[in-house]
Amino acid sequence: MAEEPQADSRGEARQSFFAKQKLIQSTRAVFQQLSGVLKNASLYPAAHPFLLSSAEKLLKQIKDLLVMRKEVTFYLVGGELFFETNSVPIDLSLATLVEQFTNRDVGGVIFRPGLTPEEIIRFAYLMNNDAKFFADRTKVEAAMALEKISHIEIHRALLVDKKAAASIKEGKKKTEKVFIDAVDTVKGMVQSVHAEKVINMRQVNSTVQKLVDNILQNRDALIGMTSLKMYDEYTFAHSVNVSVLAISLGTYLSFEKPQVAALGVAGLMHDIGKVSVPLEIINKPDKLTEREWAMVKRHPIEGALLLADVPAMTKLAMVASFEHHQHGDVYGYPRIDNMVQQHPFSQIISIADAYDAIIAARVYYKVPTPPYQGVRILLEKRGTNFNAVLVKAFVNMVGIFPIGTVVKLDNGEVGIVMHQTSNLMRPRILILTKFDGSEKEDPSAMISLLEIEDGHPKRSIIGTIEPTGAGIDIKKYLE
Ligand SMILES: [Fe+2]
Ligand SMILES: [Fe+2]
Repeated sequence: MAEEPQADSRGEARQSFFAKQKLIQSTRAVFQQLSGVLKNASLYPAAHPFLLSSAEKLLKQIKDLLVMRKEVTFYLVGGELFFETNSVPIDLSLATLVEQFTNRDVGGVIFRPGLTPEEIIRFAYLMNNDAKFFADRTKVEAAMALEKISHIEIHRALLVDKKAAASIKEGKKKTEKVFIDAVDTVKGMVQSVHAEKVINMRQVNSTVQKLVDNILQNRDALIGMTSLKMYDEYTFAHSVNVSVLAISLGTYLSFEKPQVAALGVAGLMHDIGKVSVPLEIINKPDKLTEREWAMVKRHPIEGALLLADVPAMTKLAMVASFEHHQHGDVYGYPRIDNMVQQHPFSQIISIADAYDAIIAARVYYKVPTPPYQGVRILLEKRGTNFNAVLVKAFVNMVGIFPIGTVVKLDNGEVGIVMHQTSNLMRPRILILTKFDGSEKEDPSAMISLLEIEDGHPKRSIIGTIEPTGAGIDIKKYLE
């Protein structure tokens, strides 16, 4: 397939994009198939051709991963699925299985060479036992031995390989650095423009490369960073947030690398035209005068003109800068004769931009806008202002209660959203008791709102809380 040379000239990094993308796809395929095998095992006898063929297919997928590896290990840490330190975003197709494993206190699964379809089927029957059965570890081990399951190993949640846990933690630290470096890149870019110097495209491309890499490795962690909103540096962080959200949506929709990279660059650049608007106007908390508003409305045009002069700048960044406020309604700008539909990439930037701006509104307005309101507003405007299909994909990705939302539960508890599950209304949350960040060290504080007790959900969300107002530093929980 065609590769553009400018986004990244190092073959190594390009290879790592495909390798990671492929690993994540393979992991998804294994878990989707495993989910199918477990379901078939609950419906059919061991010799049924349906069950056997699904086990054979799973074996083939595992064997593909076993090439060049001694064993294939998946980890489940805090409801997150990892394969070799890559976090695999959990969506509808994986959520049920991840929940099933987590409820059975399974923190890791290892597959080894020598595995047969029959052994997979025996494992599937075993996994279909209830959580009570799994509570007794010796019983589980005895059953594994009795069923001659020797090429599959399951680990308890708490006994997850220390090395894996350390490298996952390390990965999250790296995420924070990548994010902060990206904010610095934007800052440097704005300074260059003010000083009438050329924007350093090399740095921009390398920043985007790191963002893309990090999103492939742990999308939820970087999306979590966007919800921090870095109030003091928000003007710069906003461009990084839009870039992160656009790249995430691009990878979520399985775009190829050049497109994903172009979206990242467009996200970083979309508001560059604001350098021509005085800071007092940008940061003005009161309503803008007509003259001021007219100046703000020129930023897409100024941006496109500015980007046209930057050597090696992608055309898409120019287009996205020009079009990112040209929504379908009458408030869209700049208005031109014979308006054409926004480029699909501009539509993605528009959605990411609007979402981030709505949530950031809590910085500027007295009435806070919680993240789920951002989602609600996007949903209301889908099909009019925003492309309905893209909005749907975006909401599936960030969830109705996005990562970092502080929620109030019907039993009086307070929690912070850490991951999405199969039900967008019932994410996985960390119950806050001490409000100092120490809760994340306690595995029992991480719960899923999918949990059922006596036929009813154990806990439900009844509202959201503005974290800063309540004195909750969400940064402590997300890093
Ligand atoms: Fe803008
Ligand atoms: Fe913007």
